[in-house]
Amino acid sequence: MQNKHDTVAILDFGAINSQAAAKIVRNLNVYCEVLPCTAPAEKIAALAPKALILQRGADCGEKTLGREPAADVAALGVPVLDLAACGMDTAAIDAFLAKAGLKRDWTTEAFIADAIEAIRETVGDRRVLLAMSGGVDSSVCAVLVHKAVGKQLTCVFVDHGLMRKDEPQEVCRVFRDQFGVDLVHVDGEARFLGNLKGVTDPEQKRKIIGETFIRVFEEEARKAGEPDYLVQGTIYPDIIESGWDGGKQVKSHHNVGGLPKNIDFKGLVEPIKYLFKDEVRRVALALGLPESIAMRQPFPGPGLGVRCIGELTKEKLDILREADAIFRAAVVEAGLASQINQYFAILTGNRSVGVRDDARTYAYTVALRAVRTSDFMTAKFVHLPMELLETVSARITAAVPQVNRVVYDITSKPPATIEWE
Ligand code: XMP
Repeated sequence: MQNKHDTVAILDFGAINSQAAAKIVRNLNVYCEVLPCTAPAEKIAALAPKALILQRGADCGEKTLGREPAADVAALGVPVLDLAACGMDTAAIDAFLAKAGLKRDWTTEAFIADAIEAIRETVGDRRVLLAMSGGVDSSVCAVLVHKAVGKQLTCVFVDHGLMRKDEPQEVCRVFRDQFGVDLVHVDGEARFLGNLKGVTDPEQKRKIIGETFIRVFEEEARKAGEPDYLVQGTIYPDIIESGWDGGKQVKSHHNVGGLPKNIDFKGLVEPIKYLFKDEVRRVALALGLPESIAMRQPFPGPGLGVRCIGELTKEKLDILREADAIFRAAVVEAGLASQINQYFAILTGNRSVGVRDDARTYAYTVALRAVRTSDFMTAKFVHLPMELLETVSARITAAVPQVNRVVYDITSKPPATIEWE
């Protein structure tokens, strides 16, 4: 698909941010892919690049200095831009692309048209299954595949009862009513909470949620006639971060919607595997998905299960859902949502003494968390305005009687993680 467009190969020498040059090139509407500097010549040649960019130099980090490209690089006979000479400079890259005569035709609309064509080619008249989480990645995949092959697609939305307030209803409204997708909504709350009864250990909780998810998904796949293809919402950073020969730290992706173990699919359909997250969001908006989905902050597969400390019960989850919705609405109201990567509430396992209407209470403590991060491997807590925190505390304790104390988490990652469990 990418070879329809003039392509730039970016050879990365171990830059601090391996995506930096690619983002600049793509924002200039030129398609590019990032390869490690150790990539074999055939792999680079397979892209049929019209130009090469060497991602190294002082502003790419110490370890990129002094490393030389393999002698084969010159053999490609295409223009080369060495960032060690010009730095990570948009104007210099822009001028290089112009001089190399590359067509600027890689746009959101072009991506959508190409993706739909590629899905049709792969799938033919066979059936496709997709695990819908309600997040931007699976949502974009669902709309693209639906546009490509319509009713050959079945989306299974396993609602584990650990979603945020009103989320399941929104997923059904958008995909069934707005897009006409064949969406199976599995109300798994009782089954998940049943399996989680009495379990307090965080890893045990994650394991049970993951395993129950796979079982439910497999059952639904069978009911759907075991479709031939499975759609995966893999995105480009997953590939860049995990596919490289030892040079990079591998981030372990803990996706509840992992591959079902007992079903043989003919193949995977991965429509957005060459897109960065901000590109996925742009595609989502262009496809007509609502902002609440297109701009949705990351939400972990195990959902509120990792934000509700101790045993998971419907009562505790409902308390958390209310507190979390109040906090998130206040952040949006304050106009801060776009500056924060993740913000949410946690129902701590702690209860403490308080006073309400002149009577003693013994109620839960809710923690609020807001972080800024570029890669989710490290994160800084956000200095939210005190007035905002005060408003949220007042609103939560007024609306949710089971909560009498609200605290703000002022820990960065490391030493903490973003989620509490
Ligand atoms: P931590 O808590 O490890 O979170 O600092 C880093 C990022 O990963 C998300 N996260 C998950 N996402 N399945 C997911 O799909 C998971 O099991 C999971 N655990 C954490 C977390 O929300 C944050 O964005």
